Parts: sequence; structure tokens; C-alpha cells
Amino acid sequence: MVLLSLQKTLVLLGTLLIPSALTAPGTPSPSPSSLDACGLLSSKDVTTLTFTDVANCYHAIPFVPDHAKTTLETVHTLFKDYYIFTDTALNPRASKPFKNEPYDVLKRFESIGRTKYAGDFWFHKDVRKAVDDLKDGHASYDALHAPVVNGTQQLRVFRDNHDDEYKGCIVDKINGSPAWSYMKDWSTNILGISHDPNARLNIALATQVYKPESGKFETFDGLFAARSTLPESDVIEYQLRCGGLLRPIKVVGEWTIVSTLDEGIQFDSVDSYVKNVCLAPKQPAPAPSTIPPPPPAVLPGVEVQEFPGAEKVLEGNGTVFYHLKEQPHIGVLVIHSFDIFPFVDEGNVVFEGLKALHSRNVTNLIIDVQGNMGGYVELSAIVVQLLFPNKGPLDALLEADQRVTKPLQQAALKGYNANNTEFMDASLLVDLKTGLPYSNNDIFSRPVTLTRNGRKNLYTERTALKVPIIPQSQIDTVKQFPWTNNAQNIRVITDGRCGSATGMTTYFWTSEHGVDAFVVGGTTGEDMSMFSYAGASVLTLADIQQTYKGLGATSPMKDVPYASAIRFSWLEVYARNSTVPLEYDAMRFRAKHHVDYSIENSFDREAMWKDIGALSWK
Ligand SMILES: *[C@@H]1O[C@H](CO)[C@@H](O)[C@H](O)[C@H]1NC(C)=O
Ligand SMILES: *[C@@H]1O[C@H](CO)[C@@H](O)[C@H](O)[C@H]1NC(C)=O
Ligand SMILES: *[C@@H]1O[C@H](CO)[C@@H](O)[C@H](O)[C@H]1NC(C)=O
Ligand SMILES: *[C@@H]1O[C@H](CO)[C@@H](O)[C@H](O)[C@H]1NC(C)=O
Ligand SMILES: *[C@@H]1O[C@H](CO)[C@@H](O)[C@H](O)[C@H]1NC(C)=O
Repeated sequence: MVLLSLQKTLVLLGTLLIPSALTAPGTPSPSPSSLDACGLLSSKDVTTLTFTDVANCYHAIPFVPDHAKTTLETVHTLFKDYYIFTDTALNPRASKPFKNEPYDVLKRFESIGRTKYAGDFWFHKDVRKAVDDLKDGHASYDALHAPVVNGTQQLRVFRDNHDDEYKGCIVDKINGSPAWSYMKDWSTNILGISHDPNARLNIALATQVYKPESGKFETFDGLFAARSTLPESDVIEYQLRCGGLLRPIKVVGEWTIVSTLDEGIQFDSVDSYVKNVCLAPKQPAPAPSTIPPPPPAVLPGVEVQEFPGAEKVLEGNGTVFYHLKEQPHIGVLVIHSFDIFPFVDEGNVVFEGLKALHSRNVTNLIIDVQGNMGGYVELSAIVVQLLFPNKGPLDALLEADQRVTKPLQQAALKGYNANNTEFMDASLLVDLKTGLPYSNNDIFSRPVTLTRNGRKNLYTERTALKVPIIPQSQIDTVKQFPWTNNAQNIRVITDGRCGSATGMTTYFWTSEHGVDAFVVGGTTGEDMSMFSYAGASVLTLADIQQTYKGLGATSPMKDVPYASAIRFSWLEVYARNSTVPLEYDAMRFRAKHHVDYSIENSFDREAMWKDIGALSWK
């Protein structure tokens, strides 16, 4: 039996845990015996830091009933009155590819309020789990600034840190259990993010994503291997079968610990950890003056030709165009991010890329949105229109509504056209009766009552987010392309790891324009979602608090005492003519075609494009 670490030795980023940053010059280092668990964490040499060091510090943080009470009151109000899917989540039925139990997040918070906790860590763990169990990628609760923990790939080893010595080895067991069911259970039960357990499986596992910095597709470890919360065990034990070897190999993966704390935040004890790390500083510390890093050698990567058979034609910040050499009728548009600003500039890149493909006599288009976790709905709308130009003013809009409460109505009286008041400003919303933005904030004063799963609550009338319309000159040009308004000549590839703006885009192409989508991965033979979360826009608690403050109004929620990023969905969208929020509209998530990962297409995107091109167009 060989015992080896899959991980490289521990890596710490930043200065946080470097002992010299913690002790004033000339002060002798305290002896280890005088240090508590967090003090030990901060004093240890980087190369010897372990899972246990991190766990001991977390576990030592005391439970403060007052802080817990405020936190719970705030998240309870946030999810009762602001989060849009609380009532919808009570839905008893979920058709394939979803798998949901009815879930009452408010009851869960109430039960946490009745629980006695031995430490702060377990309290926050339960609050985070309560939110994760909504299985909504828009909603998250991350109260502790946890280190990112880095592990490796499972089932088959995608890559390792021993010169890929184990790359391709089959994983038979994880922590003593059969590997496949271990991974399925883990992704089904631990991950939130999607209502579809197979999308969660893809999210847990490694894949490749496009990196503009290098101009290539690179490995993304997946959330089983890269954690932002304390993992369930100090090491992960794998039993591998490699190449022709008969005897199984046992490999122990140790966590690589990476600090994500801002530079300048220091601690040397449990007390100072709570004070400097957990409790939100009122003002951000002034940024240390640093020399800006030199720009990467190659930027953008348009000069980098990664694939022998797919020529890179053009690239923006969120999009890349390729032309397949052996199937010259096929062009590929990779959209790896919608989180690109200014979105009009990126839209112009897409327009230029389509023109370039047309000038090369491309007739068929593959659009690859794998791993695109979303971004601006505006960019999504532009890209949809460049393939399917609007015929009417409402074509590019997604119908939407949001929750309304008394405090929101009061604050919204002053919110029209005010700065940074997104969710209280109807100038950003379109009146579906006129197709124009609202001219005042009356929409918040005359809410409608919707009953969902037996609960009544106030919502705005059906409205829509305002999105840009592409110029007539672009419409006139794209009309000449063989794929424009022609679903037969377009295919979409997703892997289910696709966030809201990507979900909305894919929804338009598939449900409204009849384009076929291929989803890759998940479990062979099982249905799978094209996207993880399609149906909402996201805000943080801090955004809401800032908006109330900016309008001189009183928020019904206290600030939470802990440094945190509590995200939630505030605006839900609907498929055309549907009464079910798109987020819960399982039928519209299901991809028409499902293809499995092969070893080849997992590591070589060009191979995947060629296969899907051949399946699509004979
Ligand atoms: C995980 O480790 C690899 C090197 O083995 C590194 O390239 C990668 O950036 C790490 N991931 C994170 C999230 O730190
Ligand atoms: C891409 O990002 C770079 C750097 O931020 C910026 O200078 C450039 O204008 C962006 N390109 C587009 C098309 O938005
Ligand atoms: C595109 O097709 C036209 C008409 O068949 C031909 O004249 C032209 O050379 C082709 N262009 C390229 C780049 O292959
Ligand atoms: C809102 O912000 C814009 C710039 O972002 C500024 O020009 C404008 O004056 C601001 N309006 C108000 C009312 O603060
Ligand atoms: C929505 O309903 C309208 C009016 O009944 C109809 O004209 C339109 O085709 C429908 N759209 C979709 C996408 O079903």
C-alpha cells in the first residue's frame, strides 16, 4: 500500500498568517503554550498548517446569544419579506429533472432559534445549511470568512499535483465507501445551487473553463475539491486503480489551505479572530499602497491557438469565436461569462465575431455556455437579439415581479430614479402595457396578492427588467447570416453549471426560438437541466441596507453582527405566458439532448464541438 498526498504542500496567500506580520518588531514570539487555538493557527509555519489547525480555531469561537439572535431575526425577515421564492419553495411537487422536497426555510430558522449551540461555528453551519437547502444558486449565506480549501478530482482523477501521476486513475472508494455513491450523496445533500441533483454533480466535479488571461481552457477543480467551508473530514482517502496495476493504491488527500482574508487583517487569538475577522469592520481598512501587478504577458489570448483543429477568430472579455477546420461550415461562440461591463462593448464583440464567421462562409453555429455562472441580463438580451432580432418591443423582455412590503413601499416613495436603489426604482422596469419604462413608482403602491402553496403575500404586478435593444444597423447586417432566425442552424451546449443570465439566455433560445440544446455530464441515462438557476436577480443584504439608508428610510432589518455576504433573489422571472416562476419551471430546464463526458471530450473541448457538430448536422 502506498500512502501519498494528492495535494501539493500547503499554500497560504497574502500576509495574514505569516508570523512576522503578527508580532511587532523586537517583540519575542509568544511560546506556543500561551496561545489559544486561533493563536496557534496564526503562529504556525505555513508549510505545517493543517485542517485540524483551522478546525480548532473555528470550533473555539464562542457562541454569543445576542449576536445569534440579531442574525436570525435579520435572515428571518430577509427570507420572509424579500427573498422571492420562500412561498414557491413549499411546492410539494417537482417534476424531472428537479428533485425537491417541500421546504420551509422560515420554519428551519425558527428551529435554529430554539437550538442550544456549543459554539458559533455550529450555529453558522446550520444557518448556511438552511439557506443551501433552498437549492437556489442565487441564495447563499457565508458568514465566516473561511479559507478556500483545495482538494482534487474524483471518480477518475482529472489531474493531480504529482505531475499528474494519478491522472486517469479510477477512484474506487472515497473515505472507505464506494466512490460513485459517495460523490452522488455528497453533491445531492451538501451542495445547494440547483434543484437538479445531476447539475449539482457536475458542479461538484472538475471541468474546463475558458481563462481569458491565458487564452485557453483550464481546469476548474469543482466544488468537491475546492471548498469555502470546513470539509467533513481532515483528509480524504481515495482508493485508486491505475493503468495496468492489479493492486489498488491508497492515496490520502490533504487539504491545501488558502487564506482569502484581506491583507492587513490580523489575529493572534480567538478574541482577536472574532474581533478582526468575524465582526464586520464598520469602515473598510484603507488599501495598502501597492504597485499594480504587471499586465499578463498575453492579453487577450487571441494569439493563443490552443486547438489544432479549431482556429480562434476573435475574442472579447466574455466571449471567444472559433472556426472548425475539418467542419468549416461550423463556427463556435463560447460565452464563458455574462459578467462583463460595459455590456454594449461586449455585444459589439459578438456582432463582429458573427460577421467574421459569416465572412468565412460559416453556416452553422455552436454556442458553448458551459460553466458560465451568469452576469448582466442586459448582455444576455443583446446576445439573444443578435441571433433572433426582435419583431416586437416586448420580445427581448422577461416578465418578472418582486415582493412588496410596507417598509419597502414607504422607502420606494423616494426611490424613483434615485441612484443605486435597484429594487425600489421603477424607472428600471418596463410597463408591459406600454412597453416603456414606468414614469413613476406607483407600481409599489398598488401591489397584487398572490397565493402560493397556501401562503398569501404581496407582489408587484407583472413587469419586466429594462434591457437594451440592438441598433437597426446591426439587425440589418445579422439578417443576412444563415443562422439568424434559423434555429435549425444553431445548437447550444451547456453543462448545467449555468447561472441566471446564462439560464435566461438559454431559455430564450430553446423555449422561445426552438433551438436544440445539448447538456453534457451528470448521470448517464438520466434527464438533466440546461442551467442551475435561471429565474431571478440577486442582491445582498448589504445592498438593501444601503438602499434604505440612502433614501433616508428605516430598514426593518438590523445589520448582522458578523462579516457576511448574504445573497438572495429579489426579482423572479417567468417564461412567456407562464404562471410558474421560471426558477421552478422544471420542464423548461430540461435539455432536449444529453451527452456523456468521455475522457476525450472532458479534456479537449475541440473534440466535444466536433462530436456535437456531427450529431447535429449530417
Ligand atoms: C488548487 O491548486 C492548484 C494547484 O494544484 C492551483 O492551481 C489552484 O489555483 C488551486 N485552487 C484554488 C481555488 O486555490
Ligand atoms: C475588456 O477589458 C479590458 C480591460 O478591462 C478593457 O480595456 C476593454 O475595453 C474590454 N473590452 C471590451 C470589448 O469591453
Ligand atoms: C466563401 O464562398 C464564396 C462563394 O462560394 C467564395 O467565393 C469565397 O471564396 C468563400 N470564402 C472563403 C473565406 O472561403
Ligand atoms: C446619480 O449618479 C450619477 C453618476 O453615477 C450622477 O451623475 C447623478 O448626479 C447622481 N444622481 C443623484 C440624484 O445623486
Ligand atoms: C403568449 O400568449 C400570447 C397571447 O395569447 C400568444 O400570442 C403568444 O404566442 C404566447 N407566447 C408564447 C411564447 O407562448
